[in-house]
Amino acid sequence: MAILVTGGLGYIGSHTVVELLNNSFEVVIVDDLSNSEKFILKNIEEITGKKPVFYPFDLKRKELLAQVFDAHQIDGCINFAASKAVGESQEKPVDYYENNLFSLINVLKEFKERNISNFIFSSSCTVYGQAETMPIDEDTPLKMPESVYGKTKQMGEEILKDFANAYKAKISLLRYFNPIGAHPSAKLGELPVGVPNNLVPYVMQTAAGIREKLSIWGDDYPTEDGTPVRDYIYVVDLAKAHVAALKKLIGDESTGTVIDIYNLGTGKGSSVLEVVKAFEVANDVSVPYQICARREGDITVAYANADKAEKELHWKSETSLEESLRTVWEWQKYLNSRN
Ligand code: NAD
Ligand code: WQD
Repeated sequence: MAILVTGGLGYIGSHTVVELLNNSFEVVIVDDLSNSEKFILKNIEEITGKKPVFYPFDLKRKELLAQVFDAHQIDGCINFAASKAVGESQEKPVDYYENNLFSLINVLKEFKERNISNFIFSSSCTVYGQAETMPIDEDTPLKMPESVYGKTKQMGEEILKDFANAYKAKISLLRYFNPIGAHPSAKLGELPVGVPNNLVPYVMQTAAGIREKLSIWGDDYPTEDGTPVRDYIYVVDLAKAHVAALKKLIGDESTGTVIDIYNLGTGKGSSVLEVVKAFEVANDVSVPYQICARREGDITVAYANADKAEKELHWKSETSLEESLRTVWEWQKYLNSRN
């Protein structure tokens, strides 16, 4: 049973490929390496002892995508491929709509033509905007995200729901909260290109001396210590949720439409200052920081109610913030050893 993993050499995709291979799935990766590097493929092979099929092209090249479906019996897809930099999406809206939606639609056209089901979509808690109540559950009303990036996620969800209804397909929309961490082998992790946008890679690079100081974007929020609160979920736990979601779709013998939606988080909120402190304690390092003005578009608090995934996928995030942050430091040390 071959699973197409688009963006499979990226941060979350590579960790998910490892879990798929460990669960005896055949994996076919399409990744244009626009935000990842080829050495990740070798590292996946070293970790699993298995060699996934890899095609290095842009999913917007639909003629090349058709050749992949001709060459392999594709039985499902996990669609990670997208551009994900929130700030960049505001500067390049057309590029983001084109990349994130055309790529998705090209895969769905192949699924429709060949009557394939079992499609998993990388969504994001950003589709909730600033939710009124915490923890956030899947029935929380969605708000039009402020960022173009967030809009591509919400539009992606709507496209998939229409696809599932029209073609009686089985889909799973996975709304990730804040993925962090690296593989225990320290051979996979987040490869930030340029200056990291996200908190944890920036903390990592500050501790490593690559960045002089962490800017904490605001400590005047209505939270315990004034800094925003997020739900930081370990990337390997997140990867395992994808295997569970895929197995559920494949195992669902109903002939009609299946639309699964799951929040994937720990159910626990941590503030920016708590993350910084936890990183320092977990790794016995110092993370110098300065308090700056708020970052535009940031929300105050977001953490998941992940009970539905626990109940229906028999999955729960087990890894602590401190352990996740320890893997980050090991990954930085691995990156240092490569340079
Ligand atoms: P990533 O950038 O590490 O991985 C995305 C991969 O897709 C990269 O390897 C990139 O080269 C590839 N790609 C992008 N456009 C492509 C195209 N047109 N054709 C072929 N390959 C293409 O990102 P990630 O953090 O692993 O995120 C994976 C998915 O999860 C994305 O859809 C992202 O929006 C979503 N997501 C990420 C987060 C997060 O905080 N990392 C949170 C919520 C949702
Ligand atoms: C977390 C907290 C910042 C960097 C974003 C996207 C979301 C998803 C995950 C793709 C915030 C603070 C950060 C820094 C800081 N990505 N921070 N200094 O904003 O919750 O979510 O990434 O799907 O869609 O919106 O994550 O890691 O950027 O920020 O103070 O240098 O850390 O203000 O409060 P965020 P983040």
